[in-house]
Amino acid sequence: MPRLDARLKTVARQIRGACHVDVGSDHGHLLKAVIKAGRVEWGIAIENKRQPFLNSQATLAGLAAEVRFGDGLEPLAAGEADSLSICGMGGESIAKILSAFPRRVPDAVVLQPNKRPECVREWGLYSGFHLLDEPRTAGRRAFQILVFRRSASSPDPAYHDVDREAALLFGPHNLRRRDPQFMRALREERRYLEQLDRLDSRAADRLAAIYRVLVDAIEADTAP
Ligand SMILES: C[S@@+](CC[C@H](N)C(=O)[O-])C[C@H]1O[C@@H](n2cnc3c(N)ncnc32)[C@H](O)[C@@H]1O
Repeated sequence: MPRLDARLKTVARQIRGACHVDVGSDHGHLLKAVIKAGRVEWGIAIENKRQPFLNSQATLAGLAAEVRFGDGLEPLAAGEADSLSICGMGGESIAKILSAFPRRVPDAVVLQPNKRPECVREWGLYSGFHLLDEPRTAGRRAFQILVFRRSASSPDPAYHDVDREAALLFGPHNLRRRDPQFMRALREERRYLEQLDRLDSRAADRLAAIYRVLVDAIEADTAP
């Protein structure tokens, strides 16, 4: 998929639907790529700022897509789209957009928070969405892509039998898989937090959760 970086390529691979809405489309390249790849039949880009709105219009001109100006899901009707993405924003902003119009959120949701992914996981857990997967991009800055689907059954089985607080911070699937890149990132963060003079309560909670995850991993590795 041309013109997409590794982050948006990973997002694009998770998108498939008859009508897909991308909130905060900015340059419009994600929608263009999934439409051209045949993963989506019709795309709706939503932007709340003038220049990105115009950029999306230019990128998507002539494609099976439209660009709407507005705040979050305000310009979308309930049932209009069957899948949604929001990428490149903080987790708090993403959760706020989704919580503002819960009935307008489509059943399939792909989210890429730049920070505070725990806000997005909490949104899913308390809004009837199951976290199906959380692929990470390779490279120095590993972005997490969170793939959700609405489910009538609760609770989300992804959180069964894992440390809930650590799972919200670092991801239940990541905790189960313990892949080397993920474990290395946790150890690096532990070293970084340990050398700080003072930790605020959020950082202290993170460090405590990292210790628990690392101890669990050692115990699992040394179990008979
Ligand atoms: C950092 S850019 C990310 C662009 C693109 N999604 C990506 O991941 O490369 C965030 C974009 O979201 C738009 N945005 C932020 N809050 C929004 C909201 N509440 N509704 C619609 N668009 C929003 C901004 O104008 C900006 O273009």
